Amino acid sequence: MKSRDIPAILGGAPIFDTLLPFTRPTLSGIITLQKKYLEILGSGMITNSKYVEEFEEKVKKYLGVKYAIALNSCTSGLMIILKALEIKGEVIIPSFTFFATGHCVLWNNLTPVLVDCDRNTFNIDPIAVEKAITSKTSAIIAVHLFGNPADTKALEKIAKKYHLKLIFDAAHGFGVKHQGKPLGGSGDAESFSLSPTKLLTSAEGGIVTTNNKELARKIRIGRNYGDSGIYDCEFAGLSARMSELHALLGIESLKNLEKNTANRGQLVNLYKELLNKIPGITFQKIEDGNRSSFKDFSIYIDKKEFGLSRDKLALALEAENIMVRKFFFPPLHKQKIYAKYHNSKNKVDNTNNLSENSLSIPLYSHMETAAVKKVCEAIYRINVHASEIA
Ligand SMILES: Cc1ncc(COP(=O)(O)O)c(C=O)c1O
Repeated sequence: MKSRDIPAILGGAPIFDTLLPFTRPTLSGIITLQKKYLEILGSGMITNSKYVEEFEEKVKKYLGVKYAIALNSCTSGLMIILKALEIKGEVIIPSFTFFATGHCVLWNNLTPVLVDCDRNTFNIDPIAVEKAITSKTSAIIAVHLFGNPADTKALEKIAKKYHLKLIFDAAHGFGVKHQGKPLGGSGDAESFSLSPTKLLTSAEGGIVTTNNKELARKIRIGRNYGDSGIYDCEFAGLSARMSELHALLGIESLKNLEKNTANRGQLVNLYKELLNKIPGITFQKIEDGNRSSFKDFSIYIDKKEFGLSRDKLALALEAENIMVRKFFFPPLHKQKIYAKYHNSKNKVDNTNNLSENSLSIPLYSHMETAAVKKVCEAIYRINVHASEIA
């Protein structure tokens, strides 16, 4: 079956005339920033100045955390956190994640230990974490996957019991509420992403948050080569500062964060209501009292019940002019640079299952409800014709 054969089976023209994007940044209000951009450019202070400070202050307040440090990406934030904490040996990370979670470990010459996730929440499984601890383990990195808060309490308990550092890859974390509160201040530090696919964006960028004063100081100099200002570096840091232009965009985007999150929540509710009518589709479990940012909306396809595999559904949706993503396939333990670190004693059955059967479908903060309805209509129509496509 080729994707070009699918429209004929489905009865003619694709459901969308033009390609429905998988995601888009929501940049409303940006046009009003022209004056401020001209002011920044005219002042010559184009990096690491008053707008970066203002952005950090506003993020700190929003998250309710003591320190927020703006950087050029979440990945560099994670790299600097590991460096600043002087982590040695093994770092436990989920296999079901984006590769940047692992890259920060490799860049610090540390050994990633890949563990399984929970089948329902898709987040790192605290029981799998505890089983993977050895005498060489010094840290855990957990991810709030797709914006679904990880089990921070269980992970903090484990970190305390075994004297491990605990870091959160909070790339998908803006917009999340964990038991009523935004993320920030859990474990030793968090690193958030502000890239264009996130609910809060500065075009590119990252924010590290912590309640630890000394760690905050080290992150601050770590984004500036490790130089505290005396031209004799404390450690080998990165060049990872945020520019004023990016910070201004971040400040504007922060104003829309609650609205963006609420919109996504409503769109996801509509998706769930409509997709629940189709057999074989289930969703990531969000624990009671938590709010996901829905950085992505992932559906799980039971091949038997739905009548088609995830891969065939993806092909059919592409034929309908709908962009989809197989997040996260392959999982880290099956990728070239990570496979050698996989210890078969650390079972990854849930990761294999989710990475083979789940599919992220279009979602962005200003997506129209009509588009959500049409995506569901397409999935319905594909399901009706499943036996012909299979
Ligand atoms: C789980 C996860 N970690 C880290 C990153 C990297 O973020 P950045 O591009 O800001 O470095 C991403 C990017 O989307 C991600 O999904």
